[in-house]
Amino acid sequence: MARVEQTIAHRHVLASQQFDPRLIQRLFVRAEELQLTLDDPRKHQKLGNLLAGRLMFTIFYEPSTRTRISFAAAGQHLGMQVIATENAREFSSAAKGETIEDTIRVLCQYRPDVIVLRHHETGAAERAAKVSTVPILNAGDGTGQHPTQALLDLYTIQQEAGRLDNLKVVIGGDLAHGRTARSLVYLLAKFPSNEIIFTSPESLKMNRDIIRYLKRRGMSYSETADYRTALKDADVVYWTRIQKERFEGAGTIEPFVIGAGELKLMKKDAVLLHPLPRVDEITTEVDNDPRSAYFRQAGNGMFIRMALIEWTLGLL
Ligand code: CP
Repeated sequence: MARVEQTIAHRHVLASQQFDPRLIQRLFVRAEELQLTLDDPRKHQKLGNLLAGRLMFTIFYEPSTRTRISFAAAGQHLGMQVIATENAREFSSAAKGETIEDTIRVLCQYRPDVIVLRHHETGAAERAAKVSTVPILNAGDGTGQHPTQALLDLYTIQQEAGRLDNLKVVIGGDLAHGRTARSLVYLLAKFPSNEIIFTSPESLKMNRDIIRYLKRRGMSYSETADYRTALKDADVVYWTRIQKERFEGAGTIEPFVIGAGELKLMKKDAVLLHPLPRVDEITTEVDNDPRSAYFRQAGNGMFIRMALIEWTLGLL
């Protein structure tokens, strides 16, 4: 028993690479089941018993709307209590110089069941996991990874495109600083015959560690600055904003914009995704096009996070 509990205590969510296709499908089946249950007025109250008496801490050192609220909502729909620290960089003892390791050691003394952590430093979630006695869910670590976002992105691709293999996926925008794009690449590489076309301004190209990873796996990829041409053959377009908070000189870079003209170039059954928030790289004039799936994508996040919470607790 003690051994089982030990294993479950270490079901952290740290990076996309940790998920294999079988576990991904289990999570997706459960997410869909949870969505159907929540949307059924005869059944949704039962959800609140599933994790009653459990406690979630959400500790966010960086701003967030979707990840923070959807994790809190996911926990509460399942019956958990949630204690949140937003703007932890300013309002937690990090402002006095406390390390993430000490903060996590202390938080674990208060008996949470899971800790959801967003941090400005790459690798912070992994550092937290090393000292935590409960599962850590990485809600974004600097320019590193955002695995729960990548899982909801992949879930949306399955729902909208009907498959996870044999896809031509264009990933565009700020690939140098965007952790969601990095995490999604790792997941796409787990399914056969996918091809990735990276498109970005020259100074915002995908980091070479990801390119080396794709080469090692023998996965098809290419890089181009001609995004309009790239859009034409795409089954899935994954667009990202310029992360101006992460580097100086962002204001001088011309964003790659998808508007009505660019949508006309795309296939009739293409899927347009964006992790959000968007700034001006997708214009609002395309929001009502059926191919624009980014708001449905954000909605999917809560169900994927419900399934992930259950998995970290050993219940899935
Ligand atoms: N996609 C995403 O992580 O959004 P938030 O920063 O609002 O959580």
